[in-house]
Amino acid sequence: LLTISYNSLLQLARGSAVVKSGVSNYSFPDDFIFGVGTSAFQTEGGWNEGGKGESMWDTFLHEHPTFTVDHSNGDVAADSYHHYMEDIELIKKLGVQSYRMSISWPRILPNGTDNNINQEGVKYYRRILEELVKANITPVVTLFHWDMPTPFMNLGGWTNAKVIDYFEDYARVAFNLYGDLVKMWLTLNEPHESCLSGYGNTGLVPALNSHGLGIYLCIHNSLLAHARVYRMYEKEFKPDQKGKVSIVLESVWTEPKDPNKQEDVEAAENYLQMHLGIFAHPIFSEEGNYPRVVREKVNNMSRLQGYSRSRLPYFTDEEVTALRGSADFYALNHYTSVSVSPSAMEFYWKVPSYYHDTGVRMEGDPFWARPGAIWQFLYPPGFRKLLNWLQNNYKILKEIAIIVAENGFIDFGGIEDYDRVDFYNDYLYQLLLAIHEDGCNVKGYFAWSLMDDIEWRDGYTHKFGLYSVDFNSPNRTRTPKLSSYNYANIVRTRRIDF
Ligand code: NOJ
Repeated sequence: LLTISYNSLLQLARGSAVVKSGVSNYSFPDDFIFGVGTSAFQTEGGWNEGGKGESMWDTFLHEHPTFTVDHSNGDVAADSYHHYMEDIELIKKLGVQSYRMSISWPRILPNGTDNNINQEGVKYYRRILEELVKANITPVVTLFHWDMPTPFMNLGGWTNAKVIDYFEDYARVAFNLYGDLVKMWLTLNEPHESCLSGYGNTGLVPALNSHGLGIYLCIHNSLLAHARVYRMYEKEFKPDQKGKVSIVLESVWTEPKDPNKQEDVEAAENYLQMHLGIFAHPIFSEEGNYPRVVREKVNNMSRLQGYSRSRLPYFTDEEVTALRGSADFYALNHYTSVSVSPSAMEFYWKVPSYYHDTGVRMEGDPFWARPGAIWQFLYPPGFRKLLNWLQNNYKILKEIAIIVAENGFIDFGGIEDYDRVDFYNDYLYQLLLAIHEDGCNVKGYFAWSLMDDIEWRDGYTHKFGLYSVDFNSPNRTRTPKLSSYNYANIVRTRRIDF
């Protein structure tokens, strides 16, 4: 087994759908949009330049320099604050139609609040957006890609419902400033990850480690913040600006450990509901609200642990209504698959924990390759299954499109990144099958990421870029990797060359 290569494992995993020729039979439809993405904290640097306020990531990494594995921080990062024109050239070279970026909240509102708008920050994003539009590259802009202004971290971050008001104020400022140029907005990026790892444990800032309490408060307030901003745009801006608004949901595919065991099949479905349904159901399902199984599970576990209420807050009827249908497209990030079976420990566990609430044991499948980071299991057919699951679960997706807002591969460096080339070929091939054979309504795909950056707690050790960045050079020199040529070729020909 050890001698089987990654490629032959992929061939095995593909089963009957093995590609016969050197080029995919299917091509991407003419209206399909290719893009590439970055986020502000991960690339910009310039943490205290041009009047910018501190984000919680700036402050936390200064106060806890050993939080990242390489003891690094985002003070300079890829220095896009100074190299953005060069970045736009890289985007052009890829030939993509769209670029996904985020605004750093404290760069335009240094205190987080709208009583003080930082004009230099405002100009910085305006210049980038104008350049993109001039080059015919549609900007897709995320408002919150995890870099919350520090004053709000000190008030409990997303566990504090008051932050929703300030997020709405910030979003209004952004819509006023850039709505003429930006027609696709994303409110929050992967709230599941930022809530679980930032509030449930210590994987991300603010590392609140509030087990099964903080995560649900964060999820609840994140959803309400999204709905608030969606409805505000709909009322105040949409009639003139005619843009679209959505939220980016982290979408892991979940496979039953033993597909012949009913309990594993159920565990897989429950885990998907706990992980993805918890965000998607309130927004995209016909009934709204959290999925029933999520409400039951958290309530039951809370009671077993002696609480007199569920740790998962409830929505009022008005909130359910505001959330239902609050997205103009479905934006998902996909990186990995997990294999699950029921957890045996749940009744003995006294400390509230999201993972025990889910009632499942999660692992990788030994047949799934893992050439990069330990958490990324490669199972390309899982991507296709995920798209089908979404399409089957949420009828609205016949009317509104799915956009893949992130999909990408981690390694540890190198320009000849054959594994990343394989990754994009294999995942995009599954996407073609989902479109052509299953009728999934997917209209766009953004590779993650344009260039190497600070990968949150993993610092600069984990690389996602199509372009490498030399973090030791004062200029942060960018160099194309093999995968950037491969992606540009797919974008140009609308086919995959195997
Ligand atoms: C999703 C996040 O949005 C992005 O910031 C991060 O780099 C990737 N996951 C990879 O972990």
